[in-house]
Amino acid sequence: MNVYDSWRIAAMLDARGMEQTDSVADADIIILNTCSVREKATNKVFSELGRIRDAKKPNALFGIVGCVAREAGATAFHRMPDLNFVLGPQSYHKLPQILENPDARLLNIDLSGLEKFDEMPQMVTAPVVSYIPIQEGCDHCCTYCIVPYTRGREISRPFADVMRDTLHAVKTGAFEICFLGQNVNGYKYTDGNGKTYHLSDLIRETAKIPHLYRIRFTSSYPTEMTDDLIEMFKTEPKLLPFLNMPIQSGSPDVLKRMNRPYSLDSYLEIIDKLRAARPDIQISSDFIVGFPGETDADFEQTLKIAKQVRYINSYSFKYSPRPHTAAALMPDQIPENIKRERLAILDNTLNEIQREFNETCVDKTFTCLCEGSDKTGRHLLYRTPYMQQCIVQNRDDSSAIADIKITAANRASLRGKDVTLK
Ligand code: 5AD
Ligand code: SF4
Repeated sequence: MNVYDSWRIAAMLDARGMEQTDSVADADIIILNTCSVREKATNKVFSELGRIRDAKKPNALFGIVGCVAREAGATAFHRMPDLNFVLGPQSYHKLPQILENPDARLLNIDLSGLEKFDEMPQMVTAPVVSYIPIQEGCDHCCTYCIVPYTRGREISRPFADVMRDTLHAVKTGAFEICFLGQNVNGYKYTDGNGKTYHLSDLIRETAKIPHLYRIRFTSSYPTEMTDDLIEMFKTEPKLLPFLNMPIQSGSPDVLKRMNRPYSLDSYLEIIDKLRAARPDIQISSDFIVGFPGETDADFEQTLKIAKQVRYINSYSFKYSPRPHTAAALMPDQIPENIKRERLAILDNTLNEIQREFNETCVDKTFTCLCEGSDKTGRHLLYRTPYMQQCIVQNRDDSSAIADIKITAANRASLRGKDVTLK
């Protein structure tokens, strides 16, 4: 979501005749887009701001946007008096105000909902893989998570707006779209005629767009994986056979304290249904280790479920206490060294599963999408339907979508040969 927000900010500055530069010393405006989901990223923000302040031109405007801006609010100006603006994740469309009035200080951390999507100009050229936000915020209130505070309550964008943005992206260069939302499968929009649209409706309609080759969505909440959505994996070949559906922990006790009200059986049942709908589907997850009160036995259950589901690509984190969250106040906070140990063990397990899956791909052929080339230009970087990176020799006749036969694999990437070429 932050990557998408940064694109929109860049598009807005672009439309005002500005250009991007890699050098802080050259820039007339510097915007740090920030994430507060874990403490480590938050802590880095103010040291990074200090570095920017020391390197920038004296009259260059600089500020922070995103979730740390919302959390810090006016205190950001106390910690860093040189800041010109502090804008939350739903108010960065107010940025032009500071361009028009650079001597003022701009603070806006409102949760204004969808305004930003409508007030910002679109990108002139869409990336090959374009993100399309369809909802923002989250009503789930997991006890560890700051998102409901920083991004607010769940709100879904109008169906027609999402269709318009998707068509625009495809017309201007997108081959793949990824529907985005903190709780993307909770998408629910009722139009003026009382017709209600869900994510499955968006997939069905966008799949009809010619020259759009691949569709995916992230991130999904397990209990909102409804049958109409699962059915899409059966009926819409453009929907990639890959799904991020975080389980977070394999321990029913920890899940209860996380306020994630699903049982392991119901989670596994969803996976069975997905596999019945699309036998080649693969799943990825997010995990948190060292949640307050997590015992060795709880952690063992997380390892067990990881091996059982065989997630092919996952994100795992040490629990990080966040302001405004219930878990930060829970007893039995786990010491850092235990969190570190458990994370290393889980990462080893997940990496091994990923390597084994990648090895099963050797000799198979996948239709892949080219996302760019390496630095030398001698190799193209393709993505398989499972989001694996595949390195392929560059040729003049290479195309954006190609059938790639996998020739070698390690944990992090694959190598392949373009079999659409003679
Ligand atoms: N500590 C560690 N990880 C967290 N996440 C969210 N909040 C926290 C936290 N307080 C992780 C979850 C979520 C991902 C986006 O970030 O795994 O799925
Ligand atoms: Fe945070 Fe995701 Fe839970 Fe929502 S569902 S509160 S975004 S972890």
